[in-house]
Amino acid sequence: MKRLGILLSGRGSNFEAIADNVAAGKIPAEIAVVISNRPEARGLEVARQRGLNAVCIPSKGMEREAYDRLLIEELKKNRVDLICLAGFMRLLSAMFVREFPLRILNIHPSLLPAFPGLDAQHQALEHGVKISGCTVHFVDENLDAGPIIVQAAVPVLNDDTVETLSARILKEEHRIYTEAINIVLSGKFRIEGRRVILED
Ligand code: GRF
Repeated sequence: MKRLGILLSGRGSNFEAIADNVAAGKIPAEIAVVISNRPEARGLEVARQRGLNAVCIPSKGMEREAYDRLLIEELKKNRVDLICLAGFMRLLSAMFVREFPLRILNIHPSLLPAFPGLDAQHQALEHGVKISGCTVHFVDENLDAGPIIVQAAVPVLNDDTVETLSARILKEEHRIYTEAINIVLSGKFRIEGRRVILED
């Protein structure tokens, strides 16, 4: 059984969707550890309630590499095969990324490379795009930048607010994160340049 490590900082709805699909047998893996860098993260509480191994490693005031070394230690201790960032609000160091080549995924609420960084849904509305969506990608040392595994598009409607657009995107996030995890766990893909090519 493959072992997942989930990193989060807040609400944790993507984590919950993954945990539901693991429990339903839709992801052939188990959740080995859920790590939050914020003690108050709702996702951490949800993980505890589900009886999962929930660990808080507070990042406040810590230097990036020193913090990442703690993360690496915890992830290795739990023999994690794949790391899923699920609303983890911290940039990872190149050192961290090198430890887990092609084994770190992130989800972002825009069609990358449009609108990386914070408040992607707000950026999309401000820019006036007619279509937005979400992206699951491999993590490299740059922000929201690695090779793209799965994307889903949603329309931007005339009366959308950040809240309504975010909710429409979030529904797709919950679906495609599982899809991407399954692709990566299956190993049935190759990478050519920036392209993740599915082999099936
Ligand atoms: C999601 O919109 C995700 O795309 C972004 O942060 C948000 C996390 O939401 N990276 P949740 O904590 O999974 O509910």
